[in-house]
Amino acid sequence: MKIGVLKEIEKSEKRVSISPKISKLLIEKGFEVLVEDGAGDSSKFKNSDYEKVGATVERRGVVYKNSNVLVKINPFDEDGLKLIDKNHILICQLFHKSHPEIVKEIAAKGATIFSMDVLPRISRAQDMDVLSSQSNLAGYKAVIKGAYEMTKIFPLMMTAAGTITPSRVLIYGVGVAGLQAIATAKRLGAIVEATDIRMETKEQAESLGAKFISVESNDEASDNGYAKAASEDYAKKQKEAVNNSLFNADLVITTAMVPGRKSPVLITKEQVENMKNGAVIIDLAAAQGGNCAISKMNKTVIRNGVKIIGTTIAPESVSTNASDLYAKNMFNFISYLTENNEFKWDLEDEITDETLIVKDGVIRKT
Ligand code: NAI
Repeated sequence: MKIGVLKEIEKSEKRVSISPKISKLLIEKGFEVLVEDGAGDSSKFKNSDYEKVGATVERRGVVYKNSNVLVKINPFDEDGLKLIDKNHILICQLFHKSHPEIVKEIAAKGATIFSMDVLPRISRAQDMDVLSSQSNLAGYKAVIKGAYEMTKIFPLMMTAAGTITPSRVLIYGVGVAGLQAIATAKRLGAIVEATDIRMETKEQAESLGAKFISVESNDEASDNGYAKAASEDYAKKQKEAVNNSLFNADLVITTAMVPGRKSPVLITKEQVENMKNGAVIIDLAAAQGGNCAISKMNKTVIRNGVKIIGTTIAPESVSTNASDLYAKNMFNFISYLTENNEFKWDLEDEITDETLIVKDGVIRKT
């Protein structure tokens, strides 16, 4: 079976879905790997790196024509869709609910598509979970970005010229990104505090050395390991519990999301007005509306001396690692779905069933 690795066309996208290291693993498993010319450039993988491990580098049209399976990170673009036929099996993060027109077009071609973003979050799917592998890096990078934007350092430093007190970091949302942000800020020497609507995250935050800010509330139990939308009462109590830490923080990282919904606003304009001059907020939820009322996606807003940076959980800026991890997730996913290099099509299996959006032109998930 031939696996085609396509170049992402969006300028901001620096990642590639299969790295040379993972091409080697696929080839050792008996797959052939075709890579679009320049696909790895932005992740710092050269064509020759792929060729060295036995992959073939081809023009885009040839990759489409000669591959059975086509892999990508982002949804297929219009030009790509024209090149798809009924024999193709596509794998990418389709976000099918937001892209019904692409789903329809793929179905009209009679093709098949799996989407990585709807993988069930169960233990045996952990090594295929692209949302986790990428969020983890985003959590790390958020702290580094924050450190760069701040006018203070993180650790306690005793010098002949005086003592520098450690910075205070506050993290909203202790999911995958939040946990990595805690770990990174701690390693850099900051005093870290964190809060989450899911009380089960208290122990996780504390085990990494953060102080957990609990919000006393009866009605916010989590659904299937995920947060549900907070009630007004919870939001009010959360503000009361967190305000003191927020107003003393040097860096705030927000990662709070609720699957399938707009992100909750956790920091209002009024709260920003009470924050320290020079504080920085990195809002990783900006693409879903933002956790800070003032955030704007891909923009830095300064209010009352507070720098609010609206960004996303897409770690393009660490594209080499992000590509390697995404690629390993893809390798595990393809290995799981195939036997002797043929797809098993076990539709009773939860992982197959949830991720298979269109099969042979039939739309299975809307
Ligand atoms: P996410 O990106 O959906 O949300 C981030 C965090 O924000 C969550 O911890 C959530 O509880 C929190 N949050 C939402 N609303 C909030 C509010 N109003 N105030 C404070 N915090 C709020 O979550 P992520 O990181 O994708 O995963 C969440 C959990 O799912 C993980 O911690 C883990 O337990 C589970 N998971 C399981 C996997 C598996 O078993 N394969 C893989 C990945 C995650």
